[in-house]
Amino acid sequence: MKVLVSGCAGFIGSHVCERLLEMGFSVIGIDNFSKFYSREIKESNLSYLKKHANFHFFELDIRDLKDIKSKLTEKVDLVIHLAAKAGVRPSIIDPESYIDVNIKGSQHLLQWMVDMGCKKMFFASSSSVYGNNKNGTALSENQLDGEPISPYAFTKRSTELMNYTYHHLYHIDFINARFFTVYGPRQRPDLAIHKFVKLIDSNQAIEMYGDGSTARDYTYISDTVDGIISGSKYLLENENIFETLNLGNSKPIKLRNLIGTIYKQMGVSQNVVQKEMQEGDVNITFADITNAKKLIGYQPKVSLEEGISNFIRWYKNLKDN
Ligand SMILES: NC(=O)c1ccc[n+]([C@@H]2O[C@H](COP(=O)([O-])OP(=O)(O)OC[C@H]3O[C@@H](n4cnc5c(N)ncnc54)[C@H](O)[C@@H]3O)[C@@H](O)[C@H]2O)c1
Repeated sequence: MKVLVSGCAGFIGSHVCERLLEMGFSVIGIDNFSKFYSREIKESNLSYLKKHANFHFFELDIRDLKDIKSKLTEKVDLVIHLAAKAGVRPSIIDPESYIDVNIKGSQHLLQWMVDMGCKKMFFASSSSVYGNNKNGTALSENQLDGEPISPYAFTKRSTELMNYTYHHLYHIDFINARFFTVYGPRQRPDLAIHKFVKLIDSNQAIEMYGDGSTARDYTYISDTVDGIISGSKYLLENENIFETLNLGNSKPIKLRNLIGTIYKQMGVSQNVVQKEMQEGDVNITFADITNAKKLIGYQPKVSLEEGISNFIRWYKNLKDN
């Protein structure tokens, strides 16, 4: 079985590729080393993969359909589409580039799939599509009671909708998986846990946006990867699929509790500066994962304490080497 992974040099993509290779898949990885964060980090994410005989890498920008067509000449059984401009706040400053990569780039991959006769896509969507969760309760996939409140969020929701059109017209099967604040080794440097650990480790204060009562459904990377693999198997083993699934942890953690856990585990007393809430940030993300459990047997396993401890160990090890 051959799988194309877009965004393979990123945080989630590199973990997914490793798991696919361990399972015996042949993997084609594409990435453009977007400047969102350093190429060096992404090259290091790829270092293990590049040594593997069943991994083939193409430096490729999904905004360039011509390049996609000229470099990707083999049909694949499945596309796991993770390449995107991520990040809520930067999307407010530069919405156009988010539309270019996340919507137009996704459309290019779909066009390529139609041309090549590829029939299965697992798409990385986001909890941000729920907008502001009015009651603060767990939301299932069709409870879109809020509207997207950042350009990043609307590009993800738009792509979910575009995927339906390609399912209807070209019979491509999809899982749109909504990820909820994924963390763990190699987490993006712009995300809270990574930023906090780095600042605390260098004896600097951390900034907390709002009063600490906002909450996120932090999901550990191995749980997200389990969901991606189970969803991929489901896609490969079934026909005529169009599903949208929450891959969260279903245990939201308040920001102030996250900060407390990190300080406690690093054995340092708290040094926190409170700042205004930032535009585009939602109050809470909270996944109802009933459907993912039923359909693909998704069951997150890693607690916040264990996940944070793994992250800190990884961070310190990276710094020492
Ligand atoms: N990490 C999270 O908490 C989270 C939550 C919800 C959704 N997601 C989604 O999951 C996916 C992976 O996220 P991540 O945290 O691993 O991000 P990441 O930035 O680490 O990985 C994305 C990869 O896509 C690549 N990329 C960007 N633009 C590209 C382009 N034009 N052409 C080719 N490659 C391009 C980047 O270079 C990067 O390596 C993204 O689609 C993101 O929106 C992530």
